[in-house]
Parts: sequence; C-alpha cells; structure tokens
Amino acid sequence: MAELASLSLDDKEFKLPVITGSEGEMAIDTRKLRKESGYICYDQGYGNTGSCMSEITYLDGDKGILRHRGYPIEQLTQNSDYIETAYLVIYGELPTAGQRSEFNALLAEHADVDPRMHSILEGFPQNASPMAMLSSLMAALPAYYPELATNNFEQDLKNFDQTAALAISKIRTFVVMIYRYQRGLPMVPSKDVPYCENLLQMMFSEEQKDYVTDPEVVKALDLLLLLHVDHEQNCSTATVRMVGSSAANLLASLSAGIAALSGPLHGGANAAVMKMLQAIHDEGDDGSHFIEAAKSGDKSKRLMGFGHAVYRNFDPRAKIIGVSCEKVLATLGIDDPLLSIAQHLEQAALKDDYFVSRKLYPNVDFYSGIIMRALGIPVEMFTAAFAMGRVPGWIANWREVAAQPKGRIYRPRQVYMGPVQRDYPVKG
Ligand code: CMC
Repeated sequence: MAELASLSLDDKEFKLPVITGSEGEMAIDTRKLRKESGYICYDQGYGNTGSCMSEITYLDGDKGILRHRGYPIEQLTQNSDYIETAYLVIYGELPTAGQRSEFNALLAEHADVDPRMHSILEGFPQNASPMAMLSSLMAALPAYYPELATNNFEQDLKNFDQTAALAISKIRTFVVMIYRYQRGLPMVPSKDVPYCENLLQMMFSEEQKDYVTDPEVVKALDLLLLLHVDHEQNCSTATVRMVGSSAANLLASLSAGIAALSGPLHGGANAAVMKMLQAIHDEGDDGSHFIEAAKSGDKSKRLMGFGHAVYRNFDPRAKIIGVSCEKVLATLGIDDPLLSIAQHLEQAALKDDYFVSRKLYPNVDFYSGIIMRALGIPVEMFTAAFAMGRVPGWIANWREVAAQPKGRIYRPRQVYMGPVQRDYPVKG
C-alpha cells in the first residue's frame, strides 16, 4: 500500500502522506496542502473528509458493519445492556463488576435535578417542542455545576467521571420532566433501580401509585437505547466535537448535539416513519401507492426509514430492531396494524428494482417508532428518546477531543463565491 500520494498542481508535484486506519481504511493527509500549495480541499457536507482519528466506533456502510470499541453491535445487543455499552463506548473497555457498580452509584447520585430547573421548564409553553426544551435544560446545566463545567480541558477532564454520569442520568430525568410537564403531571421521585426501569417508573407512575415495570418493556427500551449509543461522525456527533474543540465544556457541547439531532434529516426520521405508516393506514392502502410515489424522485415523497447517508447495505441496527419489534409486540399482546404495513412495505421495496438498484434498505428508524409506541412513548418524544440513547457516544467523542495533546479548534475553510471587492456607493 502506498505511503505517499502524489498530487500534480500547476506543474508542481506534492507528496501527501497516506494514513491507514486499524481496519484498513485509507486516507490522504491534506493538512499541509494549503500551506505548501495554496489549495484547499472542497468537500461540501464533509462526505469524503475524515475530520478526526477516533478509536470509538467502526462503521462500514458497504458491508453493513457497526462495531463499538471492536465489539460487533449484534454481540452487544445479544449479551450486553445499555449502561454497560455506554461505559464501553466512553471508557474503551467493558466495565469490571466494581466499575459497573461505581458507575451505577454515580448515575443514581445524579438522578434528581435542582428544583430551580423546574422553573426553567415552566417558562416554556406546555406544547413547546420537547427537543427545544431538552437542549435548553442541558445548556442550563453548566450554570448549576460550574465546578464540572469550567471550559478548561484539563480541569474538566479531572472531573470527567462525575460529569459523564451526571449527563447520562440528568437527560433521563429531563425527558421525564418534559413528558410530565406537557401532561400537567407532577414529578414523582426517582428510585434506586436500574436506569431504564427508573425512567419508566418516573415517566408513567401516578402520584400515589407506582407504575409496575414489565421486564419485557424494560428490555425493549434498553435495546432501543443501546442501538442508538453511537454512530461514528454523524451530524450531531460531529457537532459535539466541533463545539468541544473550542474548549467548551462537556455539558454545553451536549446541548449543541441535541440541537443538531432535532433536525428531521437526522433525529426526526423515526417520527416521520410513524406519520407515513399512519397515513397509509388511514388511506386503507397497503403501501403500494406510497412506494410508487417514492420512486418519483420527489424528496418530499421519499419512503421514510429507507436509505442512509453511509449504509449501502442493510443498516445492521435495522435488522436487529425489525426482529425485536415483532417479538416485543407479540410479548406485550399488542396488535399494531402499523407493524404489518411496515413489514409489507419492506418486502415490497426489497423486491423493487428502484430500491434494489439504489441500494436503499430499511434503516434503524424504520421499526424503532413502532417499538416506542408500544412502550407508551408518544411520537413527539421519539427524538428526545434518541438523544438520551446517543449521549454516551457524544460524551466519548467530546473526551477524545478534550484529551488530544495537539488538538486544534475545528475551523474549516470555504471557497468564497460572493461578489469581489466593490466600492460602497456614494450617497446623496
Ligand atoms: N425513498 C425514495 N428514494 C430515495 C430514498 C428514499 N427514502 N432515499 C434515497 N432515495 C433515492 C434518491 O432520490 C436518489 O435517487 P437518484 O439516484 O435517482 O437521484 C438515490 O436514492 C440515492 O440517494 P441519495 O440522495 O444519495 O441518498 P443520501 O445519502 O443523500 O440520503 C437519506 C440519505 C437518509 C437522507 C435518504 O435516504 C432519505 O431521505 N431517507 C429517508 C429519511 C430517513 O429515513 N432518514 C433516517 C436516516 S437514519 C438515522 C440516522 O442514522 O441518523
């Protein structure tokens, strides 16, 4: 394999180092190109740009591979759980029993929020977007924990274990607070029970009566969160890294990640899938009409939950979630007509030359909404649930940025296409 790439520009030849990743991914190091040649690389949307070296997640979109810290997602969903995988993604190794219980203790310690934060929520209209409320609550956290959010890498890394656990624990409570605020329900105290169980209890308990958690519901929620833990340099993760690169503290960076996830092209697709399935159901169609419309090339008619920016094969998470969706609904005795519509759509699209030739397969969002609905999570909270699952990945990525000895602030260049210099018109 070449160690140097050659680039000819204006009769000059430039030698650029080649970098090879641990899974054989190859990159051309263009960091010195501008200095040496005056040229920059143009790559709108960064689709062909490696913005960092990372040890967290490996993704091969052509082969449909997803691994966290080397462990295949299929093995993690089979043998691990959300909190253990979160620990793995953040710290690089699976926790020992002692580390796991220390981590659990930190999560429990940070479950409740400062009562003054409820006033922040009460300042919002009750029907405000849950993602607007969630990113605001996260953005406010540094004000309550200035000692953990100093905007100094060295100092913030010293307190990293506390801050990381605090963020994972607090976002769960924020999601519950938002859910209950929108329904005019008072909060119920958090319990010293495992993470997902605590979430369900806080969310669905009535004031006087505990919600009894069904182990199958807990398992399904755990799987959903685990499948969302990290996904390489997607829009929100790249945002967290970018914000973090300015030495912004972890909590501020997470808030930016939540904002990036709120867009319909990123975190909002799961809700769009449900809207589409519901529309098919309401029309009494079996989906054939939607498939035909999706082939028109009109972006607004795309088959939601199909296709992916990096997978040109089955999204491995979709395979897992598709199987789980059927099982969860059967175990809970739920007969959701949207599931059979989804299954029919999937089968029909996978036989259709339009989808096959463009390598468009179901993505993680195709079935995740049906599971969330079965668990009682309302559609407007889907993206907030996604954010909760993704927090460990964002934390791990922020830490990589903060711990880089020679890291520099993210500052891309541009190709200016505006007017060239002109004189301001003389007035009067
Ligand atoms: N339905 C119909 N046609 C599609 C779809 C779709 N869902 N997705 C892509 N295409 C077509 C597209 O029109 C293009 O056709 P042509 O070659 O004739 O111009 C071809 O397939 C290639 O698509 P692309 O534009 O290169 O795909 P992209 O990589 O830019 O977009 C995507 C990826 C996810 C935005 C897109 O597939 C899409 O809009 N899917 C529906 C929304 C969705 O499910 N999003 C969730 C993504 S997973 C969540 C996450 O990990 O963040």
